[in-house]
Amino acid sequence: MMQQDQVVEEQLQNEDDDDSFFQDIDMLQNQGINAADLKKLKSAGICTIRGIQMTTRKRLCNIKGISEAKMDKIKEAAAKLGDAGFMTALEYSDRRKTVFKIQTGSSELDKLLGNGIESMAITEAFGEFRTGKTQLSHTLCVSCQLPGPGGYSGGKVVFIDTENTFRPDRLKPIADRFNLDHEAMLDNVLYARAYTSEHQMELLDYVAAKFHEEPGVFKLLIVDSIMALFRVDFSGRGELADRQQKLAQMLSRLQKISEEYNVAVFVTNQMTADPGATMSFQADPKKPIGGNILAHASTTRISLRKGRGENRIAKIYDSPDMPESEATFAISNGGICDAKD
Ligand SMILES: Nc1ncnc2c1ncn2[C@@H]1O[C@H](COP(=O)(O)OP(=O)(O)OP(=O)(O)O)[C@@H](O)[C@H]1O
Ligand SMILES: [Mg+2]
Repeated sequence: MMQQDQVVEEQLQNEDDDDSFFQDIDMLQNQGINAADLKKLKSAGICTIRGIQMTTRKRLCNIKGISEAKMDKIKEAAAKLGDAGFMTALEYSDRRKTVFKIQTGSSELDKLLGNGIESMAITEAFGEFRTGKTQLSHTLCVSCQLPGPGGYSGGKVVFIDTENTFRPDRLKPIADRFNLDHEAMLDNVLYARAYTSEHQMELLDYVAAKFHEEPGVFKLLIVDSIMALFRVDFSGRGELADRQQKLAQMLSRLQKISEEYNVAVFVTNQMTADPGATMSFQADPKKPIGGNILAHASTTRISLRKGRGENRIAKIYDSPDMPESEATFAISNGGICDAKD
């Protein structure tokens, strides 16, 4: 009996730890940081103590109205309140227990992904046109609202559209398949169209502020597609280094958001011919764009290719804990589903 109590006690303790996960920067007022400065941080998407720890001094100084002296004071105050970042492996394993998976609509694809799209991580799907990247994105908008395995409760989603291919009407037949009310379902999808790569980055500040405002409500952030605007904004060879630097900043922001707010990040990506491939006898001479920066930022990468008819084949491309294998799924009016044969 004693032991049982101890377990309960420990669980309560862990729940408390979870709260500290969302420590609001307003707490810094007690440390002598004034409300006006905290507002400036929030408008830059930095809303939690952890958010401050995750932001470089340089970036803090770049926020309008934050001088170097102020930045030092803020960093110091955050260090006092927050923990240094160390935890035991046991504590870390408890944190990992809050990780959830969002179902894709196809049980085969879920299996391939180890049960679905994972939170606190970036999942990237790349493939040629019509391979189902946008259809998968639409399906996830609906499926993330459904309760899932492992006690997943369902939640809201943010959709950042860089190619103008998001269609709310497309979500309706998908909702019908899962018996969701259209209006309630649409109300849970927060949509923004990004027009430039810079705008795409600015939207992430807004997203972070929104996630902070409604803690635990949003479960998924979709960017369809991650690279399209970078391709337009940085076109010449001479701009490649600049592009990769900006891309790295965006991905690092996405990674931080996924960890800070425990959400799944799903991004799509295009492909391009690999100029080096003709030399290496590769079977598939195309590869995802974005180079090593994107390759390293994505926790899980799946490549999509066409199969027969509506069928598509997904392959794990790069994952820390999943073997390289394939799954066949189909695109239907009700969204992504299992292939019939
Ligand atoms: N309502 C629907 N029912 C069945 N199939 C559909 C439906 N809507 C679209 N599709 C199929 O989805 C495919 C297009 O997929 P999608 O738009 O996701 O491709 P994509 O990978 O995003 O391509 P791109 O690189 O051009 O963005 C087409 O083959 C189309 O027939
Ligand atoms: Mg698309």
